[in-house]
Amino acid sequence: MSKKIGLIGAGNMAEALISGIIKSGINVKNIMVSDVNTKRLSIVAKRYRIRQSDCNIEIVKSCDIIFLAVKPYQVQDVLEEVGVYFNNKKLLISIAAGINTSKIEKYLQNTAVIRSMPNTPALLGYGAIAITKGKYANATDLKIAEKLLCSCGVVVTVPEKDMDAVTAVSGSGPAYIFYIAEIMRKTARKMGLSANIAKILVDMTLLGASSMLITSEEEPEVLRQRVTSKGGTTEAAFKLLFSKKLGNILEEAIISAKKRSKELAKKS
Ligand SMILES: NC(=O)c1ccc[n+]([C@@H]2O[C@H](COP(=O)([O-])OP(=O)(O)OC[C@H]3O[C@@H](n4cnc5c(N)ncnc54)[C@H](OP(=O)(O)O)[C@@H]3O)[C@@H](O)[C@H]2O)c1
Repeated sequence: MSKKIGLIGAGNMAEALISGIIKSGINVKNIMVSDVNTKRLSIVAKRYRIRQSDCNIEIVKSCDIIFLAVKPYQVQDVLEEVGVYFNNKKLLISIAAGINTSKIEKYLQNTAVIRSMPNTPALLGYGAIAITKGKYANATDLKIAEKLLCSCGVVVTVPEKDMDAVTAVSGSGPAYIFYIAEIMRKTARKMGLSANIAKILVDMTLLGASSMLITSEEEPEVLRQRVTSKGGTTEAAFKLLFSKKLGNILEEAIISAKKRSKELAKKS
């Protein structure tokens, strides 16, 4: 791809994107980044040998594909500043959580907009990334976004109405797993294991179980049942989890996250 790619915002997620975009084969000469934080800007630009600018407008004027990688509350200011420099030949890819494509389109001139929702494992290349298109974007724009984002993880396309569910499942999802790790490590310590041993056993168990989920064709329920022999230790654990209705609690928690995502999107 010979198109020029620009990023507005050089924060954590932008860095993950830059690293992924370079891995996808884009020449560093075709990548440019801006940020109000000049120290952070020059660190990122030097680290990846890409061009830098302290002017967001320059990014929009000189690039064909522009990533909007600032915090959601900073999006409006940026769009008010750069919106008029967009046209129907440019593509904007937003990674700002909870900002609808229609809100972004209001500031632009018939420009194709793709909204994406990555999660933190994207920083390591293991992200679960959902993308959706705005009213001026087409299937080619979605393909371009997918090609650029797939080095940060697996990319799926969803209708925009599903973005709140995506936020609740994969956006907040890593935190649910971190909580399970937290409880497992704490309990291991209480049962007398050292912190180091608890960390190794818990972290590797989560990695191993995730790898089995990804490589196996079986449903998680079947994999769980295979570890649960009659009268055994896992069965003892699940008797308690089922009696306390852990499944219902988790379901309610995920639905609460979806509700909150909807509320935040309305406010933005
Ligand atoms: N991190 C995640 O796990 C994650 C996951 C999913 C989605 N996202 C989305 O990714 C976006 C970026 O998140 P992040 O964690 O990478 O944020 P971040 O590290 O704070 O990066 C944003 C950068 O943009 C800069 N900035 C602020 N206003 C600007 C402006 N007007 N023009 C140019 N640059 C400006 C910020 O500078 P200052 O620090 O000086 O403000 C900061 O360096 C967010 O919208 C978030 O919703 C993040």
